[in-house]
Amino acid sequence: MNIVIFGPPGAGKGTQSNIIVKKFNLHQLSTGELLRKEIQNKTDLGQHISSIINEGNLVSDQIVGNLIEKYISNNLYKNRLIFDGYPRNLIQAKNLDYMLKKYDQKIDLVLKLSVKLETIKKRISERKTLEKRVDDNEKIAIKRFETYENNIKPIIDFYKKTDLLKVINGETTITEISDEISGLIESIKGWL
Ligand code: AP5
Ligand code: MG
Repeated sequence: MNIVIFGPPGAGKGTQSNIIVKKFNLHQLSTGELLRKEIQNKTDLGQHISSIINEGNLVSDQIVGNLIEKYISNNLYKNRLIFDGYPRNLIQAKNLDYMLKKYDQKIDLVLKLSVKLETIKKRISERKTLEKRVDDNEKIAIKRFETYENNIKPIIDFYKKTDLLKVINGETTITEISDEISGLIESIKGWL
């Protein structure tokens, strides 16, 4: 079972991935978190990407592609990954298919969390005080939202063709959303 979860900033990708990995014994692969770790650890890569992230732009496809390959190629996570925040454009969506095939895997479910900009602003301003993410101010949150909107249409079309795409209303409660996602996972034949 490999799952893709995408949606705008603050949509609840991380929150839901967190719940689902525990419930179904999967592994969360958040490209945003991996990149933030590089910045915290002040690696060469971290120094290269910090201004890109702080401005709400996308890091290069090659950099994130390399990061995710480390997990896809690791037998420990085989068929147990939730991709949180990857893919973010059509090149990445195609690369994910290619990479999974290379390691004899596939995507079983694609979840799109839909949330309005007003809700995003509210959630991000609330989170700001708790997590202190450098990209969590209103201006950059709006920029992240725009980056998302500018890249997402081809991804939706790409996954619509595969019949794997499920659109979820991300405006309801955390529990309602995770129940809906659990139901979708449980309905996949041969999984449980
Ligand atoms: P990333 O870390 O993925 O950030 P993001 O997409 O902006 O999303 P967030 O993590 O802010 O939100 P989330 O959807 O996880 O929501 P959460 O569950 O936290 O990426 C950061 C940056 O890294 C990018 O801008 C880019 O620069 C770079 N990057 C990452 N991946 C890349 C890629 N593939 N290619 C290139 N560059 C990449 O929830 C938010 C808040 O709301 C929380 O406080 C939560 O408690 C609350 N909440 C959640 N759900 C609900 C609910 N249902 N009701 C009420 N509150 C809720
Ligand atoms: Mg997140």
